[in-house]
Amino acid sequence: MCGLFGTRGHPEVASSVIKGLQDLSYRGYDSWGIALQSGQELHVVRDIGLVPESPQLPTISSSLAIGHTRWSTHGEPTIANAHPHTSVDGKIAVVHNGIINNYQSLKDSLPHISFKSDTDTEVVAHLLDEACKGGLSLTEALRQVASRLSGRFALLVIDSRDDCLLAYRQGSPVVAGTDGTRQWIASDTFALSRCCEEGIYLEDEQLLVADATGMHLYNGSGESIPIHAEPISSQSSAHKKEGYDHFMRQEMDEQAAVIHRTTQAWDREQPLLPMPFVQNLKRIIILGCGTSWHAGLVAEYWLENLAKIPVEVEYASEFRYRDPLIYSNDCIIAISQSGETADTNAAVSVAKEKGATVIALCNTPGSTLTRMADTVCPTHAGMEIGVASTKAFTTQLTVLYQIALWLAERKNLLNSNSCDEKHLALRQVPEAVKKALKADSEIKAIAADYQHHNNALYLGRGLHFPIALEGALKLKEVSYVHAEGYPAAEMKHGPIALIDEEMPVVVIAIQDHTYEKVLANIAEIKARRGKVIAIGLAGDEHLRSQCDHMIAVPALPTELLPFVTVVPLQLLAYHIAVYRDCNIDKPRNLAKSVTVE
Ligand code: M6R
Repeated sequence: MCGLFGTRGHPEVASSVIKGLQDLSYRGYDSWGIALQSGQELHVVRDIGLVPESPQLPTISSSLAIGHTRWSTHGEPTIANAHPHTSVDGKIAVVHNGIINNYQSLKDSLPHISFKSDTDTEVVAHLLDEACKGGLSLTEALRQVASRLSGRFALLVIDSRDDCLLAYRQGSPVVAGTDGTRQWIASDTFALSRCCEEGIYLEDEQLLVADATGMHLYNGSGESIPIHAEPISSQSSAHKKEGYDHFMRQEMDEQAAVIHRTTQAWDREQPLLPMPFVQNLKRIIILGCGTSWHAGLVAEYWLENLAKIPVEVEYASEFRYRDPLIYSNDCIIAISQSGETADTNAAVSVAKEKGATVIALCNTPGSTLTRMADTVCPTHAGMEIGVASTKAFTTQLTVLYQIALWLAERKNLLNSNSCDEKHLALRQVPEAVKKALKADSEIKAIAADYQHHNNALYLGRGLHFPIALEGALKLKEVSYVHAEGYPAAEMKHGPIALIDEEMPVVVIAIQDHTYEKVLANIAEIKARRGKVIAIGLAGDEHLRSQCDHMIAVPALPTELLPFVTVVPLQLLAYHIAVYRDCNIDKPRNLAKSVTVE
């Protein structure tokens, strides 16, 4: 995790780094720090918490600086553990994203140094210092030290005696830009987009040097290699709370518009996969984490029912470590809002090494995932700031449904008229989502009643089982209430023991082929005095009579209902978290992008 930002060659380096870190705070926000070079000295400022709007920085002139916003891996979020970390003499400063797996053995090799932090990073500053004292240039020292580190990491380094900014990538993203005289290096293009129009994406084992002569790129053997810059789109304008108290609430309201945009952007004629591959396609494996994994679980129903292709949905983190069997006629669909989730990207690497074809569903153009995939299907959610994913989820569903239709049509399982009808039905979703959002004040009142409960159960069946999982994840993530999602029929196999008058149970009860069974589950909960909050179709008065509260969602074709059943669950989690006075957009212990395994 963690965000890195460095810049050189202009007098505004301090404010540039602070703005960059603010843009990168989605990667971690438990502490931050900056090192400014001035008069052959480094001035380091570090603190705990989020990067402030206008931090107190020394009034010095500086044209070289690096900064960091942290999500703790090794060592608590304290000032001592905040980056930058420096060599003993304070001349070399390092910021780091990722994990250095062998840091302990490297630390043990430096018994004469008294370490000031518990991090895996500090050892890099000391190793660089030793290498430089041994006569190496800073660039050569970084190349040699990096080759001794194991794990996935990105590093930025400066030295008080050198007017140069160094970056190294091994598994964690680094992108650099310049306007000829000024240079910037960051963890993503979002932070860079306010500074420059083109980005240089480092590959693994590459080292970049920015100095007064320009940018220079080297491979793992230290050979100079050509630099290739690509246009980056400006994304900063999306970064405003338009009159809302929280981004999460704003992003829920944006769902209708971004689902619409995602359908508009879909090209039904696109060559998503080569036709011979589609004809031989035997299996789809969907990879993702958290909310993105839930979107994959919904898609499993669509892909199997519409395109008749067997689907396996896997936690990316588990997939990569079990030596999965992958065949040349398997297709991987990797889902990620950020495109920087370490588990997902590592799983995709494993799949690619085994020869799989990879489609990436991603909300972040230029991210690591999009650069690894054979085909990219963008989700057009726009920047999602709230850590709890809402609009990214529903745009993922939108793309996944369209992929299912694309495959079904190519396999002649849907003729073009039926396919047209289904695309038309999908176009009704934005209006339905808007209607579902109108239950806001009703849900707020329910949230007021349940704000003090510390547990909740979420039940659903079929397409709505993943939605139950998503509802439970939203609640635990933003309100710190323990919540579990279950297939409704599984309740009697264990979770029913939890039910008493203190247990709210959110049940998605849609009039489909499982409706009667779900009603029976509701009766079982009521018989044990549990409190039932049902999500049902508008007009279902029978359901209303069976439960304590019913939140109605508008009708849609059955297979599209997950788009609307998720909305009340997002709202419920949000309002409970507001009542509990939680940090809605930046919940404790989390980060928007989980860039460590
Ligand atoms: O960026 P990604 O979609 O790969 O992120 C995956 C999960 O970390 C993410 O969905 C997480 O579970 C969300 N905070 C859930 O709201």
